[in-house]
Amino acid sequence: MQRFNPFGISCLATLLTFCLASAQSAPEPSPLWPLQTFQSTNIQTPYFNVTKKGQTEPGYIFFSPRDTQRKIGHPAIFEDNGQVVWKGPDDASTYGFKPQLLDGKPVIVSWFGYVNDTGFGLGSMSIFDSSYERIHEVTLPGDDEYFKTIYEPKTFPSYMDNHEGQITEQGTIVVTVVNVTEADLRPVGGPEQGWVVDGGFYEIDIKTNEVLFRWSAREHIDEIPVTVSHKPLGGAGTSSKDPWNYIHINSVFKSGDSYIVSSRYSCTIFLISKEGEIVWRLNGVDGGDFELGPGANFCYQHEVRVESHTVDKITLSTHNNENADFTPANETKPTTGIILDLDLTAKKATLSRSVWNAQTPVISRAQGSYQVLGNGHVLMGQGAIPVIEEYDANGAIVMNARFGIDNKVTSYRAYRSAWVGTPKTKPNVKACGADPDGKVVVHVSWNGATDVQFWKIYASSDSGELSEIATVAKNGFETRIELERAGSKIVVQSVGGPNDGVKSDVVMAENC
Ligand SMILES: *[C@@H]1O[C@H](CO)[C@@H](O)[C@H](O)[C@H]1NC(C)=O
Ligand SMILES: *[C@@H]1O[C@H](CO)[C@@H](O)[C@H](O)[C@H]1NC(C)=O
Ligand SMILES: *[C@@H]1O[C@H](CO)[C@@H](O)[C@H](O)[C@H]1NC(C)=O
Ligand SMILES: *[C@@H]1O[C@H](CO)[C@@H](O)[C@H](O)[C@H]1NC(C)=O
Repeated sequence: MQRFNPFGISCLATLLTFCLASAQSAPEPSPLWPLQTFQSTNIQTPYFNVTKKGQTEPGYIFFSPRDTQRKIGHPAIFEDNGQVVWKGPDDASTYGFKPQLLDGKPVIVSWFGYVNDTGFGLGSMSIFDSSYERIHEVTLPGDDEYFKTIYEPKTFPSYMDNHEGQITEQGTIVVTVVNVTEADLRPVGGPEQGWVVDGGFYEIDIKTNEVLFRWSAREHIDEIPVTVSHKPLGGAGTSSKDPWNYIHINSVFKSGDSYIVSSRYSCTIFLISKEGEIVWRLNGVDGGDFELGPGANFCYQHEVRVESHTVDKITLSTHNNENADFTPANETKPTTGIILDLDLTAKKATLSRSVWNAQTPVISRAQGSYQVLGNGHVLMGQGAIPVIEEYDANGAIVMNARFGIDNKVTSYRAYRSAWVGTPKTKPNVKACGADPDGKVVVHVSWNGATDVQFWKIYASSDSGELSEIATVAKNGFETRIELERAGSKIVVQSVGGPNDGVKSDVVMAENC
């Protein structure tokens, strides 16, 4: 059985039985993908197997590996060399994990909540500062009348969907919502009193939790009819327990005072005005309000972002899955990342860039991200395919990294970003070698601490004063240090960067 950090930083109450049970036994081998384990900490996270083929852009890789079978995952930060930097708390799931700026300061945003096999979630958006402290939890409280779910009578503390969490320049956050509601499904061969999953979004003030704006596709059903959906009805829509997830909004980006909204199942990108009106729609199959130039088509896209926006031109980037879970095997297409230039006057959409893995084409049926980096580079998270690729300005792959078996381990999105992490914890140390005259092997790690260059070791006999005995270069997440006759009492201190000079607790060497 694949297993993620079973006794990590924050085992949820619901998982407590499991956590306690696992803490007593050694981790089971994983047939799906090997997990990294360490001596100095209980942290477990998948191996991040990186192949570099050229110069990558600077920065750490942020993603959230999730075991789709056990329905558990965590946010994590890795280095290009495959070393873990930070492993965040486990939860039923974590989505929307992204480094961003709030009030000019770097933060990480992560959704935590409840997901099942439904393609949407019910939870809240947490914002962590650079010391990994949760400084805000943005919620959408409600009741089962206002946010209707398939899980009734079960209620949730917060009804925020898991797909988006963009912090705006105004210090607000844009999030998606889902709601089970009625719709006439006769146009697609369903019942007149049919049930759908409405897709919408909210803009919320981060500090006050005040809702500033809301929009729903179902409330615009005259302009966005159910026939826009490419998702087969497949017998759904007959009850509130089995609504048809026809629209599926998976990204929202506030640009100026408008919103760029991606609807996966209608293969459409909408511009919604601050009055809630649909200003235009770009349909990746038939163009919508635009004429599609060669190669400008797309479908089932993820993470639509605005690269530039003027009155008469907008440039958008997106992860273009081209496949959904219902795409027949003989009709799948390689997943690409594309940049589109939209002439808003002539209403023309032109493909300006397309990247894809020509050597080992990726066929991603869900999730994914496209991030524009410096020097013409692009980082693509392949979603349900646990692969992260970096492309250079010529479209050549300079990094290819894998962290699981296809569709068994996933990460909703992936980003590259600079990051300085200053955890409030101390370095974790385990010292092995209880024989007072023998060799001591010290293992030291510090979850989340960046820029540590060296570890300084202090040691003594049981009763003696600690004295400095060695300084050793940090080597990956956990550094292993062999000492001849160190004594049984050990302290390790960090050297370098903003985490300089922090001492571990005193540990006693043990037999291990
Ligand atoms: C990933 O790396 C781990 C550790 O080095 C190794 O055991 C595993 O076989 C690698 N997986 C692949 C697919 O290369
Ligand atoms: C989650 O889905 C499974 C079926 O896929 C179901 O058996 C289970 O009850 C669901 N969990 C909850 C809490 O609704
Ligand atoms: C959700 O749908 C219900 C009807 O099923 C409706 O009463 C409620 O207002 C909707 N809530 C939102 C947030 O759109
Ligand atoms: C894929 O297979 C189905 C069922 O056999 C068939 O109807 C369809 O035409 C095929 N599609 C393509 C692109 O060949």
